[in-house]
Amino acid sequence: MKFFAVNGSPRPNCNTAQLLDKALEGIKDVFPDASVERINLYDFPFHGCKSCFACKVINGRHYGRCVQKDDLKPILDEISQADGVILGSPIYFSDVTGNMRCFLERFMFPFTAYSKIETVDHKKMPLACIYTMNASEELSYQIGYHGLHDHFEMGMSMIFTKPEHLYVYETYQFKDYSKYVSDAFDEKERMEIRKTQFPKDLESAFEIGKKVAIRAKQHD
Ligand SMILES: Cc1cc2nc3c(=O)[nH]c(=O)nc-3n(C[C@H](O)[C@H](O)[C@H](O)COP(=O)(O)O)c2cc1C
Repeated sequence: MKFFAVNGSPRPNCNTAQLLDKALEGIKDVFPDASVERINLYDFPFHGCKSCFACKVINGRHYGRCVQKDDLKPILDEISQADGVILGSPIYFSDVTGNMRCFLERFMFPFTAYSKIETVDHKKMPLACIYTMNASEELSYQIGYHGLHDHFEMGMSMIFTKPEHLYVYETYQFKDYSKYVSDAFDEKERMEIRKTQFPKDLESAFEIGKKVAIRAKQHD
């Protein structure tokens, strides 16, 4: 079995990446022989959907597939056949990052049928979404991040399966807060959250990985 984690953070080893790796560990806990891989979306150049509609041409040989030839194409082909996918993104200006959106356009649009009769035959694998953010849980509810992500996941639910999700708040943003203009935050408080809450978030990510694996087993 093959599972992917897709990292929408430009930082390959920070909060989102660490949570995704834990989720992959959760998958390995259920399927020790499974192959797991983390893709960092900022490691290679690619674009979002170019609206060429090649994936929707009547009797087209690319029907239901993205034709854009770039570094994402072979990855997309593999992820589309995966047994489970875990997406992780920091919140940037109240949304997932730009590269995560570009990835999702390419991942989802070819499978979106523009017909009442025709369908697109594709794998409906279990998914999970991990969101990391600077905001506190309370602020996140006030701003409406949760509503936004329910909306964001709606397309995934329709095309694949309803994702599991995990929200991780008040992440530790820099290695040394004293080097940055950041007096809006209390570094001590952040460090405390890092020490006490983040390990629990990692544990939740591990559990979410297990859930995806168990759902993949049921799906098989
Ligand atoms: C360009 C940019 C925009 C951001 N916008 C938000 C935001 O709107 N809300 C929020 O809570 N955090 C915001 N953040 C903070 C990140 O979401 C947070 O630090 C995240 O955990 C970083 O993930 P990483 O450590 O995996 O890179 C922003 C950070 C950057 C760099």
